[in-house]
Amino acid sequence: MSVVFKEKPAADDVPFYHATGNEERLFETAFAQRLPLLLKGPTGCGKTRFVSHMAARLGVPLYTVSCHDDLTAADLTGRFLIKGGETVWADGPLTRAVRTGGICYLDEVVEARKDVTVVLHPLTDDRRILPLDRTGEVLQAPPGFMLVVSYNPGYQNLLKQLKPSTRQRFLAMEFGFPDPESETVVIMRETGIDRDRAATLVRIAGNIRKLSGIDLEEAASTRLLVYCATLLMAGVDFDSAVAAAIIEPLSDDADIKAGLREAIAIIRG
Ligand SMILES: Nc1ncnc2c1ncn2[C@@H]1O[C@H](COP(=O)(O)OP(=O)(O)O)[C@@H](O)[C@H]1O
Ligand SMILES: [Mg+2]
Repeated sequence: MSVVFKEKPAADDVPFYHATGNEERLFETAFAQRLPLLLKGPTGCGKTRFVSHMAARLGVPLYTVSCHDDLTAADLTGRFLIKGGETVWADGPLTRAVRTGGICYLDEVVEARKDVTVVLHPLTDDRRILPLDRTGEVLQAPPGFMLVVSYNPGYQNLLKQLKPSTRQRFLAMEFGFPDPESETVVIMRETGIDRDRAATLVRIAGNIRKLSGIDLEEAASTRLLVYCATLLMAGVDFDSAVAAAIIEPLSDDADIKAGLREAIAIIRG
């Protein structure tokens, strides 16, 4: 399990996030009103960055858990460990966040095992409690605790959908790729690349995202554009950068890759 424990950051240590709507206001309101939040959107569109930015801005610790299909409720709540012949309880990231206050962010929550939703339910209604069966404790979440989950509704996996009874406990926000001007700014800020080349990458992504009839599971994400600009800034030539950061990550199919190369060549003119 990958867990990132992030301590309270200094004010100038707020990760860069370019807002494209009222999402910051909404997040702050949800935090203040003690409401859980669900972020939906494709991979690489800025969800995780948004949460790190907001946690830093609010000055609260962030506990991020990347969910996967082996993740169980105990991975979140904690377990007894044997230490020097003694059995000691070790809090999981969710329990830590509930005890100390802070944001617990479950990335790709639909990937986790079903029993995970069971521990989330009492935390997402107005009781805001976390019962720990193993220790017999019932923790009351402090005002500074917030639960944020994200998922990618684009994956056409019917087995991996959030149940209505779970999703209706969250405020929800839809994330998409930033508008062209915002995405250009993001790429410039993230990599230091000039506006011209950033704008070209955004145009390329825009066209790939619109391509119909091409069988791509995922669209070219903002993350991939940032990778591409990073390669360009390091002196890699355009065709190699585009191949390594955009074409190859998107497809294994020779015909599709040829189609992408062609589309990109046309956009570059
Ligand atoms: N609005 C934004 N502001 C700043 N950076 C962004 C934004 N959107 C995307 N990015 C860039 O895209 C990368 C991937 O975003 P991330 O938050 O990891 O995506 P997600 O969690 O949605 O998969 C970030 O590391 C950042 O470089
Ligand atoms: Mg993410």
